Amino acid sequence: MQSIDLINMENNCFFYSDVILSNQYSADADIVLECNDAVEFAKKLRDESVQLIITSPPYNIGKSYETRVSIQEYLSTQTELITELVRILGPKGSICWQVGNYIEKSEVYPLDIYYYPIFKDAGLKLRNRIIWHFGHGLHASKRFSGRYETLLWFTKTDNYTFNLDDIRVPSKYPNKRHFKGNKKGELSGNPLGKNPSDFWGRIQEDFDSGMWEIPNVKANHIEKTEHPCQFPVELVERCVLAMSNEGDVVFDPYAGVASSLIAAVKHNRKALGVDRAEEYIAIGEERLQQFLNGTLETRPIDKPVYEPTGKEKITQIPIEWVQLERSAYN
Ligand SMILES: C[S@@+](CC[C@H](N)C(=O)[O-])C[C@H]1O[C@@H](n2cnc3c(N)ncnc32)[C@H](O)[C@@H]1O
Repeated sequence: MQSIDLINMENNCFFYSDVILSNQYSADADIVLECNDAVEFAKKLRDESVQLIITSPPYNIGKSYETRVSIQEYLSTQTELITELVRILGPKGSICWQVGNYIEKSEVYPLDIYYYPIFKDAGLKLRNRIIWHFGHGLHASKRFSGRYETLLWFTKTDNYTFNLDDIRVPSKYPNKRHFKGNKKGELSGNPLGKNPSDFWGRIQEDFDSGMWEIPNVKANHIEKTEHPCQFPVELVERCVLAMSNEGDVVFDPYAGVASSLIAAVKHNRKALGVDRAEEYIAIGEERLQQFLNGTLETRPIDKPVYEPTGKEKITQIPIEWVQLERSAYN
């Protein structure tokens, strides 16, 4: 698929010269973004027709797009959807379920712990519980501030797609060699780089080399829209590259502003998405059109995170705090 000017629109479809973007499910479309309920949409899809399902479901925490219900009711709705998702997932396919915490009366309920048995009972196998660490978020006062969420990666069978070479990251010590045994003196690394590991964020080693944080989408992020919790496109890109091949179908059942679809199309996969909020669908459609026209800006997958030098005004101890400290000693 290529980024080409929009040339026509009819019957719910935008036609680019070789890409069909539809706002209603059609098996012929390359990209479908439909305004609907996730379960209703999933029911339209054929058995084993999707290679990768990646999403961040509503967390039941009272965001503008969700009505808070008991955790039991929330999980039972999710189980209905997950049953459909397992049906449509291909034999080599994966489900990536990205969640944080549900919080009630200041008590933390880690959602991945609640989701794990639902997927396990549906016959899926967990391959990684990925920690996605980010630098910014709410500041808590009665517990530690939350700075990570998790991504559960399940597969349908043991014979699943995993393209490690497509997502390797540069090694910090490429010239490292075996120091004993029959490979002594030989290079120990891979010229394509190292496995990015199940910790997606900044560990000390990466901090030193200035690499690999995937910032969450806050106000100053280049991809920020009106959506309160959108995926960074680069996070989905890593999953798309690792767990699917060109031409495969990628589906996000809670698509929001279409971040997963953009990541899929960027790497020549077919993309399906559904969201029940019209306003997010409208933004998602616009972003997809911008992407196809080559005008959408996304944060590059390998861009280092900005690191303050310590000289910036914002990194200095504020004068008010200095005065406070002085007055405490006077
Ligand atoms: C955490 S957000 C996902 C955001 C998305 N990853 C993005 O990058 O924009 C969850 C989304 O689920 C949608 N949603 C909630 N309940 C739904 C349902 N029953 N069917 C479809 N979409 C739903 C909300 O409108 C919201 O956009």
